[in-house]
Amino acid sequence: MKLFSSRVNNKLFYKRISNAVQGEISDTKPHVPVMLKEVIQYLKPEHNQTILDMTFGAGGHSRKLLESATNIKLLALDRDPFAYEYAVNLSKEYPDQVIPLLGKFSDLPDLLRKNGISKNSIDGIIMDCGCSSMQFDTSDRGFAISKNGPLDMRMDANRCQNSLTASDVLARATEGDIYKILKFYGEEKQAKKIARALIEARYLFKKLTTTEELADLVDSCFTSNYRLDKLQRPSHNATKTFQALRIFVNNELNEINYGLILAHYYLKLGGRLVTLTFHSLEDTIVKRHMLGNLIENIVANPLPLKYTSHISTAEGMMKEIMEKNWKMLHKHVLLPTDEEIEDNPRSRSVKFRAAVKIK
Ligand SMILES: C[S@@+](CC[C@H](N)C(=O)[O-])C[C@H]1O[C@@H](n2cnc3c(N)ncnc32)[C@H](O)[C@@H]1O
Repeated sequence: MKLFSSRVNNKLFYKRISNAVQGEISDTKPHVPVMLKEVIQYLKPEHNQTILDMTFGAGGHSRKLLESATNIKLLALDRDPFAYEYAVNLSKEYPDQVIPLLGKFSDLPDLLRKNGISKNSIDGIIMDCGCSSMQFDTSDRGFAISKNGPLDMRMDANRCQNSLTASDVLARATEGDIYKILKFYGEEKQAKKIARALIEARYLFKKLTTTEELADLVDSCFTSNYRLDKLQRPSHNATKTFQALRIFVNNELNEINYGLILAHYYLKLGGRLVTLTFHSLEDTIVKRHMLGNLIENIVANPLPLKYTSHISTAEGMMKEIMEKNWKMLHKHVLLPTDEEIEDNPRSRSVKFRAAVKIK
């Protein structure tokens, strides 16, 4: 294990790598919508339709949807109060068309009921998973490794009383629980070592309170200065730890799973769903829903199918096909073009899927 303080000497180097990899920008600019052309192409907005943007962010996708057809009714949901402010502003530009909704996917039944939206009544839904650039780029939100700030990571910010920050989680969870969070939500190979270091840090610091303290501590568990991702691109040693904590703090995978069930519930027959996911844990959940590959009692992070004792008979297979809720609108997963990745490095890991509700 490296000495905790030794990392400080190399901090500039790490930050340069991290900045280059993350395509960080120095000030907080609005989020650049990803695969915008494809979103419009597959959602195919039409005059008078009702569209739900489940992840409004800075409203890039929503705005384009409103511009693509006349008199679209747009339900703009986000759990982040700052994103909600963007939605309120857009609703002033489109007073009779945009309905801003503040809450999580799991709050949708309540929010939609209050706005008179019932089952089978929405024409198109977009779910653009993960964090927005504004969340990553605002140091106070505590999402970014490269920007020192309070170790927070709550998408809801201070909106929900008693919600736990990443700092609270690390101060209270057992070593075993921290290990599981890092292993399952970060797919971190060094989960055990990092969990141990985090527990030991409690005796030294009592509570980790900044993103820099966490990044430095995690980094001290590695011998190499940076890690390589699946495509051999360099990234900060704490990348997976930050991802895991963020997912846990926001209950992201359960939200996506429930969000997809709700998307199916509220879409009309023939309604379209578009999803953008940014890592394999998110994409696996979307794939399971769209391909009708759900296993019983699905949880957020189920075992890969190869580990389940699922034996398909010809009859069983037919039944499964007949029972599918969705028909995919393309054969293979869609990815951004090289040009888009160059213009917007954050789009590089996106996976785009679109499906139509058939049952
Ligand atoms: C990638 S950004 C969306 C960017 C947006 N499409 C745009 O064009 O600006 C994801 C947004 O979804 C929100 N979000 C993530 N999970 C959510 C959930 N379970 N419920 C509601 N909003 C969520 C985040 O707060 C964030 O603002």
